[in-house]
Amino acid sequence: MAPVKATGAAAAIFSMAIISYILCNSRFKFPWRTSISKSRARKGLVDAIGNTPLIRINSLSEATGCEILAKAEFLNPGGSVKDRVAVKIIEEALYSGSLARGGVVTEGSAGSTAISLATVAPAYGCKCHVVIPDDAAIEKSQILEALGATVERVRPVSITHRDHFVNIARRRAYEAAELAKGRGEAGRAETNGFVHVNEDVQVKGDHLHIYADDCKGGYFADQFENLANFRAHYEGTGPEIWEQTGGDLHAFVAAAGTGGTIAGVSRFLQEKNPNIKCFLIDPPGSGLFNKVTRGVMYTREEAEGRRLKNPFDTITEGIGINRLTKNFMMAKLDGAFRGTDMEAVEMSRFLLRNDGLFVGSSSAMNCVGAVRVAESLGPGHTIVTILCDNGMRHLSKFYNSQFLSDHGLTPSATGLEFMNIA
Ligand SMILES: Cc1ncc(COP(=O)(O)O)c(C=O)c1O
Repeated sequence: MAPVKATGAAAAIFSMAIISYILCNSRFKFPWRTSISKSRARKGLVDAIGNTPLIRINSLSEATGCEILAKAEFLNPGGSVKDRVAVKIIEEALYSGSLARGGVVTEGSAGSTAISLATVAPAYGCKCHVVIPDDAAIEKSQILEALGATVERVRPVSITHRDHFVNIARRRAYEAAELAKGRGEAGRAETNGFVHVNEDVQVKGDHLHIYADDCKGGYFADQFENLANFRAHYEGTGPEIWEQTGGDLHAFVAAAGTGGTIAGVSRFLQEKNPNIKCFLIDPPGSGLFNKVTRGVMYTREEAEGRRLKNPFDTITEGIGINRLTKNFMMAKLDGAFRGTDMEAVEMSRFLLRNDGLFVGSSSAMNCVGAVRVAESLGPGHTIVTILCDNGMRHLSKFYNSQFLSDHGLTPSATGLEFMNIA
């Protein structure tokens, strides 16, 4: 037996020597390592958008007995899920000829979409002009301007008013196109079908500084009604979720602002497998819960346009709405849940403590939704949701203890008791 043992030991030593040589010799490249590093090199900023990781939220999965998975959209270069939308809106507009390189993309938004548009516009040789209400946090304008966008702060008025920030943004695109046309540029007036504001448009001198001397026209991004938003998720986020789960999921849940995310993802997943249940989680003051569960959006008094501003009774940002957008209308939903601000605040702190996830208010609400779905389906199901952005953009409200205390929202839970889970 001794010679056999000796031969075995020699073979083992020889193999280890070979393996050590391979591992230590820096010139040696594993073929699969080469291909991985090649596939990881993204070609520029735009190529780095999407393909976000799907993260298992361990704490919620263990507490509910379900697999709770979340798309880490805060890892996009512009910091949110809206990077996908910004790219899709600009690319479709360039492709159709509605926007030319050197043109200006305009948007009325105080949120992530404007930041994403400002982030990606230069990659397409375009400018970005953002109109926001003047009561939006000053950091928002500062970020947008630092990104190279021009920012117009205007008085907050109802969406039905011609000077609502969204209507002004639409008008600015038209003006930029008119200016380009006046100079014989190829720019087109593109307003996504909302022609009613254009009839009385005059290109006035008081805001001409917005447009570069060589401006090649304007395009109104119109995230609420532009179905490029829906398509960004139908062609991107939805297929990624399908692939990352191997199609092995039972439910998807998300809150809606424009409705683009929930519509694109729900439609894609249900076309792949009609048994996948898709749900809305709706914040306080939003009419969508009623629309999904009862078919009625709101009472007359609650209708958007009847309120001057702050129509939503919530501190969460980017979600909740009291009108039906074209994007939301594309959603295929099986039901809806309501979430409270207190639940969203508590959830954000729970995720921070247990998972190290520092997420924004809409992401926290989405996780409240995931737990509601887990409770309604029971253990053993796989549920996917979205982490839209991180907490960094929410320091002045959602992560500000004084603000929370002023609104009676100081978190106190130690576990998930706020979701009735012991
Ligand atoms: C931070 C954040 N989360 C969620 C949403 C909602 O996503 P969607 O507009 O696709 O419904 C938005 C929309 O603006 C947002 O800004």
